[in-house]
Amino acid sequence: MNTTVIFSESLNTSSLDVVVIVSVEDGIGFIEKKLLLHVGKDIAGGIVKECNGLSYGKIRSFRTIATDGRLIKVIIASAGKRGSATRANIEKLGGYIYNAIKAKDAKIGIYNDIETGLELAAAYLASGLLLKSWTFDKYKSKPETQKISAIECKTCYSELNRDGFSFLESLADCVSLVKDMVTEPANVMNPDQVLEIATSLKQLGIKVSVLDQRDMEKVGMNAILGVGRGSAYPTYLIAMEYHTDKTKSKIALIGKGLTFDSGGLCLKPATKMGEMKGDMTGAAVVIGILKGLATQRAKVNIVGIIGVTENLISEKSLKPGDIVTSMSKKTIEIDNTDAEGRLVLADALWYAHEKFAPKMIIDIATLTGAIHVALGHEFAGLFSNSDRLAGELEKSGKIVGEKLWRLPLNPSFADDIKSVIADIKNVGSGRGAGSITAAMFLKEFVPDEIEWAHLDIASTGWDSRDRALSKKGATGFGVRLLIDFITRYYEDNARGDSVL
Ligand code: BES
Ligand code: ZN
Ligand code: ZN
Repeated sequence: MNTTVIFSESLNTSSLDVVVIVSVEDGIGFIEKKLLLHVGKDIAGGIVKECNGLSYGKIRSFRTIATDGRLIKVIIASAGKRGSATRANIEKLGGYIYNAIKAKDAKIGIYNDIETGLELAAAYLASGLLLKSWTFDKYKSKPETQKISAIECKTCYSELNRDGFSFLESLADCVSLVKDMVTEPANVMNPDQVLEIATSLKQLGIKVSVLDQRDMEKVGMNAILGVGRGSAYPTYLIAMEYHTDKTKSKIALIGKGLTFDSGGLCLKPATKMGEMKGDMTGAAVVIGILKGLATQRAKVNIVGIIGVTENLISEKSLKPGDIVTSMSKKTIEIDNTDAEGRLVLADALWYAHEKFAPKMIIDIATLTGAIHVALGHEFAGLFSNSDRLAGELEKSGKIVGEKLWRLPLNPSFADDIKSVIADIKNVGSGRGAGSITAAMFLKEFVPDEIEWAHLDIASTGWDSRDRALSKKGATGFGVRLLIDFITRYYEDNARGDSVL
């Protein structure tokens, strides 16, 4: 279990081992007032002097003697200039504070009634603590790090923040589910296991339907079936519907669910191949979003569709040069068996439109290594046929601190994926812009009248370094982003002035 955050009216000053005070850059008066509840005037004065003008994200830690003679730790964390706080930077600050706290610090209290001018600052801070507290040690005989079991938060906005926090707490829970799914090795998080998790959403009122191999053969989904041919596991296309209000326009979310991507016959190099257990991140994010919306009983009309399979090698595997006919009837020449995600998505996108007639489609996928070259770990690639949809997604990215950068979908790139003997081929001619040609390929399977966005999270869903709100490995990128977008979309939609 992750850390629990408890909101309380007053911190039990006499038993705290660690006192954390969140303040703004010039908030030494506040720091001193809180310190005096724990330490004498001289110590408080000394600490205050050290913390004058501390800029955003800076943390100072002191070991000192409390008024009752116990040894305590005082941590001062700066939320930056008064009035500069945002959800994104306060959540991150929560992550930084979590890092400064050790599990052996048994009783931790945080004063977070900071003068940032941000009403939900305390809730955001607590959300950051929770997100950062995720651990995965089920395969360790002896856990390496002792977990912090509970953190008490004292805030003067308690009512409001407690409510705000319960929403953020359920979001953190969904992010943890995604991190868990992505971190599980491929021999555990196999297609059957993903199906089991998706099916478990039924208990939240989500309708789950599954196309198995035979169903997919009937409708001609030879692109996704081709990818799965090398695997001993079945291939699934899973649809998860959650509609509490059918009068509202429907959004389809599509996720790439490769529980392992070896590259197929175009085998990947051994270095880092293990990270390809995370090639189902898009599918996990879609599951996480559905779970989050259903837990909150959000008024939405959503369908999540995930294509779940493995890209392995067998005598049945796709071969370079093979041609498959997708569900859309477009024929695809397989130039590279490692460009399998777009094949899975091609059939999932077409199915979404044929079966569910959504107004909007957003797909999320660990699609190309090239997106790392273009944007690194800080921004996910955003592609869209709609300026307004792209703008709103970018806005959500800024709100939650999961940033997006839009790249072009220019018709000039289409030439790159023309095939000599089929309608289209699955990779570009090697003239660069690999993430764009991948997106251009997907565009072929989305009717123009549907507003569509594609998020390439290959370099943001997984990070080889610790981040503000995640450990080395899975980040859960996309859940908070898309839940923010969806929530704002349907709220505005209810007032009859849709954001789009
Ligand atoms: N799953 C990979 C993309 C990926 C790479 C995700 C690194 C996460 C980290 C995808 O299926 C893939 O292999 N793409 C190829 C495409 C190429 C063959 C055109 C790639 O990016 O190399
Ligand atoms: Zn691949
Ligand atoms: Zn892949």
